[in-house]
Amino acid sequence: MSIRRYDAVIIGGGGAGLRAAIEIAKDPALKVALVSKVYPTRSHTGAAQGGMNAALGNVVPDDNPEAHAYDTIKGSDFLADQDAVFFMTENAPEIIYELDRWGVPFSRLPDGRIAQRPFGGASFPRTVYAADKTGHVLLHTLFEQALSKENIDFYNEFFLLDLVQDGERVKGVSLYDIKTGEVVVLQTKAVIMATGGFARIYWFRSTNAIGNTGDGQAVVFRNGVPLKDIEFIQFHPTGLAKTGILLSEACRGEGGYLINKLGERFMKRYAPEKMELAPRDMVSRAIEYEIMEGRGVGEGARAYIYLDLRHLGEEKINERLPQVRQLAIDFEGVDPVKDPVPIRPTAHYCMGGIHVVDYRTSETPLRGLYAIGECACVSVHGANRLGGNSLIELLVFGKFCGIAVRERVKEVDYAPISEAEASKDREFIENLFKREGKESLADIRSQMGEITWAKMGIFRDEKSLKEAYEELSELLSRWENIPVVDKSKVFNTNLIELLELRNMLELARAVALGALHRRESRGGHSREDYPERDDENFLKHSLITYEEGNLKIDYIPVRITKYQPAERKY
Ligand code: FUM
Repeated sequence: MSIRRYDAVIIGGGGAGLRAAIEIAKDPALKVALVSKVYPTRSHTGAAQGGMNAALGNVVPDDNPEAHAYDTIKGSDFLADQDAVFFMTENAPEIIYELDRWGVPFSRLPDGRIAQRPFGGASFPRTVYAADKTGHVLLHTLFEQALSKENIDFYNEFFLLDLVQDGERVKGVSLYDIKTGEVVVLQTKAVIMATGGFARIYWFRSTNAIGNTGDGQAVVFRNGVPLKDIEFIQFHPTGLAKTGILLSEACRGEGGYLINKLGERFMKRYAPEKMELAPRDMVSRAIEYEIMEGRGVGEGARAYIYLDLRHLGEEKINERLPQVRQLAIDFEGVDPVKDPVPIRPTAHYCMGGIHVVDYRTSETPLRGLYAIGECACVSVHGANRLGGNSLIELLVFGKFCGIAVRERVKEVDYAPISEAEASKDREFIENLFKREGKESLADIRSQMGEITWAKMGIFRDEKSLKEAYEELSELLSRWENIPVVDKSKVFNTNLIELLELRNMLELARAVALGALHRRESRGGHSREDYPERDDENFLKHSLITYEEGNLKIDYIPVRITKYQPAERKY
């Protein structure tokens, strides 16, 4: 089997992966492989709408990186590692100016400086944006920059199968070429995971692309690297009622209201100061309480409340929120210029992820393995991420991980890969094609979607989480009996969906376990049986490790450098 060599291999062609690749490729002597299961400009970074946070102080000069850090730490319900947060907020402004020089078409103030809009949980208008298509323009700009580097090879439409590692360090990766069915092994000195989130475990109601199945997290997890704070899932308050498609927080940043069926701005009951611009965990729960107490429209899974933008006027909506308007028209049949839009919370983001041990490099406990962006847990978001902190996180940590890897790979050599290691995954794929079981991929995936939403969603308790854990374990064993019905080698989406389903089931089970053991409520993790935050017992990060199919849970301290935990009031 032929093995190709690269100094560094990046898995994931979204914002984080591209940003790291650009940095490593600045040394023309290094060879970089950028692997993506979709064409890079189709990555989920492109779906980010409202913007990214950096304390430029363009609207209110008093804003500064320390205020950005405090808002982030408070928003995280004090579970973020404070040194890592400061590192992000202090490096954020320069990252934005660099993007400006690269050509990102930011929206502007009348005097030509970069515009900034208010976002949830922020003390100042801090979110830089390009109308409501920020992720799209960012992704294309980064892709252009990466394309201009001759030492980056793009492996587009390759699916990650496994790491090659010896327990001490990573040696390579094995990939499945979706276009041909060939298994390819890349030998390398450094692997950077940048595979995005896995909120698609909430199969029926998520803002995430269908491909956000946590492939990097699951592969790394099976290789013994822990997942940190995996129980913390963010539900975005404003998903379209029928589909869960994102309507940006920018709607509220630009002045939109949330109203119940009585026409009341109900956020006054839950966050009297910040109102609609309270952090997402609080706003999502507030919407659900309104629905539970009969002030939503309809009942049960189909109930909703309204996002009202009418008072903003057509001109402002067209200038600042053109995509939002079109999404509401296309997917809900409602024009926000004329009518309030039915919305309900939707699974959006994973605060937890691959355990990063050094925020300056983004290295994990396995030498030579790094993780950046949503698939990583640095941790800067703790129990609840502030809107606009996702893109800035992936840019800052993508850049500094790239710098660290660029230097590190010059100091180490390739580790040998044996024939057995190189051919293992070809045999794994051949065996999948030979399966004869009777289970249905679609049925098991649907059952996963029902369990995750009903038993480990916005509200959880001991009973629901135990059931979720057991039922997901059962689905995982049934996964072994799903046959690959389509036997073709070319663009076999049946095979890819089967592999993705295993990844989602394993991650969903880890979420259930982490949530079961965290007997408190904090940020996005809301236990009906333990409604209070419990700093005495749970001001700590969870670490879940996979040991021969069994899951083990440990905890490590949170790094608190400046701000002692306080009650979160907005
Ligand atoms: O609402 C939004 O535009 C999403 C932003 C984010 O998740 O940071």
